[in-house]
Amino acid sequence: MLRVRKEDLRLGMYIQSLEGSWFDHPFWRTKFLLTEEEDLRALQGSGIDTILVDEAKSLAPAVAHLAPQEPARRSSLFEELAPGDPQLSAPAAAEPRRRRVPRVDEYRAAQAVVEDCKAAVGELFAQIRRGNASAVEDAAPLISGIAESVERNPDALITLSRVRTLDEYTYMHSVAVSALMINLARQLHLPAEYVAQAGTAGLFMDVGKGLLPPALLGKPGLYSPEERAQMQRHPQLGAEAVKSAGELSSIVADVCLHHHERYDGSGYPHGLKGDDISLFARMAAICDTYDALASERPHRPAFGPAEAVAEMYRVKGQFDEGLLTTFIKSIGIYPVGSLVRLESRRLGCVVAQRRDRLTRPLVRVFYSVAQRSHLPVEELDLAQEPEPDRIVAREEPGRWGLADWDRFALTIIQGQKAKRAA
Ligand SMILES: [Fe+2]
Repeated sequence: MLRVRKEDLRLGMYIQSLEGSWFDHPFWRTKFLLTEEEDLRALQGSGIDTILVDEAKSLAPAVAHLAPQEPARRSSLFEELAPGDPQLSAPAAAEPRRRRVPRVDEYRAAQAVVEDCKAAVGELFAQIRRGNASAVEDAAPLISGIAESVERNPDALITLSRVRTLDEYTYMHSVAVSALMINLARQLHLPAEYVAQAGTAGLFMDVGKGLLPPALLGKPGLYSPEERAQMQRHPQLGAEAVKSAGELSSIVADVCLHHHERYDGSGYPHGLKGDDISLFARMAAICDTYDALASERPHRPAFGPAEAVAEMYRVKGQFDEGLLTTFIKSIGIYPVGSLVRLESRRLGCVVAQRRDRLTRPLVRVFYSVAQRSHLPVEELDLAQEPEPDRIVAREEPGRWGLADWDRFALTIIQGQKAKRAA
């Protein structure tokens, strides 16, 4: 049981008792799951001060207001989304600790984690569909594997998990969101147990989709209004399915329930706004949207990572802007796997970040726009002085006829033969 102040009450909490006189509140019952905005407002406007909340029966976590240890700064980072500006120089971000390993080794290790996930995630989701919510706890070894890979090099697993068939979309999207959540939680310097919980919540966020008709999930093209309404039931279905999963359940259920809420109130299912959405659900909204935009879907080609970042900035009112800034610092303005055009009229693929120079990553060039032909791959460290070249635009892979870009990008990133420019 947890005693909370009425101003800290959130939708999804299970009210065990209202402390104060019956005359001070408008409810004829005192034990109920708080799901209606109207009831929340009534309680917050009532004469009672504290409420006893049963965490085990709640869908929203008691840590809804957990504050990041390092408050996310609303910096001018977004100005840097405009490429080609000579003033650009990203502010040094406070970097989480990393155990560095050679890039090629980490991609090999991350591939093993992806294979483990491919083998296990489907079965974990199936267990939850069958009513066995303890699958949430059973995911712990998988989450450890994802977290260790992200700690060594976040770009490897995030990039590898984008290489997926449309059939694998739901499971691999869950793995990608889990890795992105862990990376963001680390960038926020959250305590270790919350980093793991963020990863677990990311993995199971869409588990409710498994309770919808399979034909609906795989449907190519756009949804009809009825189909969209049916799809939008997956947050509640997921939250209901995992809420009995022991201690972890409250955060996971909260993220299931609220990852489609939007900071400006335009989301669903409850139309929550601002900080009424828990920190984990605000993080999940960002990680989920980023991976969905960066990946190919049945109804549209992928934007690519850099375009996905730019698109999220365009609709930034939907997200907690401070968290979005921290997120972009954690993956880069031109995330690994981005297709970029350089001043020298060459196309390149971003292969690694310079965490203190987000606009000047490591790029491998492979195509000459001027000659309209492929070039021998060459690696450029854009952070070097004098600058060997610079990014003037992010490019959509589809525009250049680069179908299946993520797979192609991976061969460039992992290629051994790139020579480093002097
Ligand atoms: Fe979802």
